[in-house]
Amino acid sequence: MVSISILGTGNVAEHLCEAFISQKEIKVNQVIGRNPDSLANFKNKVDTVLGFKSISDSDVYIIAVSDDAISTVSQLLQNKKGLIVHTSGNVPLHVLPTNLRTGVFYPLQTFTKGQPLNFKRVPVCLEAKREPDLELLHSLASLISSRVYFVDSEQRKRLHLSAVFVNNFSNHMFHIAHEICKDNNLSFDILKPLILETTKKIETLSPYESQTGPARRKDTGTMQTHIDLLTQENYKEIYRLLSRSIQKTYGKEL
Ligand SMILES: NC(=O)c1ccc[n+]([C@@H]2O[C@H](COP(=O)([O-])OP(=O)(O)OC[C@H]3O[C@@H](n4cnc5c(N)ncnc54)[C@H](OP(=O)(O)O)[C@@H]3O)[C@@H](O)[C@H]2O)c1
Repeated sequence: MVSISILGTGNVAEHLCEAFISQKEIKVNQVIGRNPDSLANFKNKVDTVLGFKSISDSDVYIIAVSDDAISTVSQLLQNKKGLIVHTSGNVPLHVLPTNLRTGVFYPLQTFTKGQPLNFKRVPVCLEAKREPDLELLHSLASLISSRVYFVDSEQRKRLHLSAVFVNNFSNHMFHIAHEICKDNNLSFDILKPLILETTKKIETLSPYESQTGPARRKDTGTMQTHIDLLTQENYKEIYRLLSRSIQKTYGKEL
């Protein structure tokens, strides 16, 4: 049995807590937070503690707070013997106290409170200062996910950067498309099968092989029509920039 304390009450804390409490080999001792309203969401499931003053002893402390607060919150665990991990993609291991047992438990997915997901399919990227702690994290992660990876701080930063491209930037593209549809009395639903097919295709083809569209085909007339249709200058800029990048990738500069 592995005992866990979760520090933080946000998106990741909620999803991790759900995943952990569904496993009989894991005991979630406490969820600790500073916001009573957010803490209330956990009340019927686990013990909750308001404020970071009375943290009980656990095998693993999961710090799931905003990136900028990780270091400060970790200092509150100075008297603890358990393993202290954070859940961030971009924060290096060394921001955690160097005199304690530390590691990283980074679940690579986009988490939103109340938005259910199957944690078994969430890649969990692990790092630890000591080998036995990495083994502990591996056995813990394997209970809730079937996709567990060892990734060091430098690799994790690049993974997080890649995740920004595939998730945040592509989602912003969906937003722009949504705006164009809305402004022209079109249902965004018409585009949803295309979005799903685009992501499905990368299961079998590389993104390089999957690319289609006017920039790859070098249809300059169509591209100019699109630029003229866009009403916002920054959207025109994005269109030009991405088209240039696609053309460069396929061997022709604009
Ligand atoms: N969301 C994702 O998709 C995702 C995916 C992978 C990893 N992560 C990482 O997981 C961590 C948590 O992200 P999240 O999305 O769960 O964030 P979130 O929903 O914004 O929640 C942040 C939590 O941090 C607490 N907090 C902020 N500043 C604090 C401070 N100075 N002292 C104590 N607590 C503080 C917040 O408390 P209040 O409510 O009181 O402000 C809240 O409980 C981050 O390191 C993030 O990079 C996020």
